[in-house]
Amino acid sequence: MNTIIITGASSGIGREFAFALDHIMGAKIDEFWLIARRKDRLEELAATMHHDTRIFAMDVNDADAVESLTDELALRSGRVCMLINAAGYGKIGSFSDNRLSDVEGMIRLNVEALSRMTKVILPFMVRGGRIIQMASSASFMPQTGFVVYAASKAYVRSFSLGLNEELTDRRITVTAVCPGPVDTEFFRIAEEHGSTLAIKKYFMTTPQKVVRKALADSYHRRAESVPTLSMRALQVLCKLLPHTFLLRLFRLFVR
Ligand SMILES: NC(=O)c1ccc[n+]([C@@H]2O[C@H](COP(=O)([O-])OP(=O)(O)OC[C@H]3O[C@@H](n4cnc5c(N)ncnc54)[C@H](OP(=O)(O)O)[C@@H]3O)[C@@H](O)[C@H]2O)c1
Repeated sequence: MNTIIITGASSGIGREFAFALDHIMGAKIDEFWLIARRKDRLEELAATMHHDTRIFAMDVNDADAVESLTDELALRSGRVCMLINAAGYGKIGSFSDNRLSDVEGMIRLNVEALSRMTKVILPFMVRGGRIIQMASSASFMPQTGFVVYAASKAYVRSFSLGLNEELTDRRITVTAVCPGPVDTEFFRIAEEHGSTLAIKKYFMTTPQKVVRKALADSYHRRAESVPTLSMRALQVLCKLLPHTFLLRLFRLFVR
């Protein structure tokens, strides 16, 4: 049984991955497994899918629930062609103002849960399979007002690039997707206690564009996917200039 597993499938980028892959993938895929906490959203999406689709309304932070996924895969001799880790969140605001529950929550979901999901699904992945990890352009350098989120995404990017090299013998490609701001529910949650810089919204792109580029980059077995020109320019800037200098420059700019 060939399976595609997508976390964070109830909205935004994860949901768009499900839509796009459902249209692209032919008979080679037997089942989609869609994961998120909101069951109603997953049911709505599953009803529109052309492939057989199973929904798992669960918290990916729950290690027991994640383990039961692997039990299920083992039971059905499941083979995973693609794993997409899109579940993630960020909270804008200074570290001092961030709630401890959010500081820990971002690390738990963006870092721990993504790593655990990758670790437990990897043994089931087929030779030539693909893993797509949602990192962010926030991974390119530290960010004030978003320090924990940026650090968590730097982990995702570093983890993915390293793992991609480790898995070359198995022909499994790991692609770190690094978009700038994307028009999803992300900002509804992110801006609960602070607002995003207006300039960031100027660079807003769509989940469709992010997913199209990510799938093309994964198909071409690229380790990284940066969907827009503005974020590619930012990445170059972050490679050329010291991050301490850029942090000071951005602080002056914000004033
Ligand atoms: N939007 C942006 O500007 C942007 C930019 C760069 C990178 N990213 C990254 O892209 C990924 C997708 O974000 P998005 O923009 O699509 O945001 P979104 O619309 O808020 O989607 C987040 C998804 O994660 C799921 N999720 C959150 N906590 C979960 C948990 N504990 N267990 C299971 N599922 C959980 C949510 O579903 P439930 O609430 O139903 O559980 C939802 O499906 C994230 O990793 C984000 O950091 C986003």
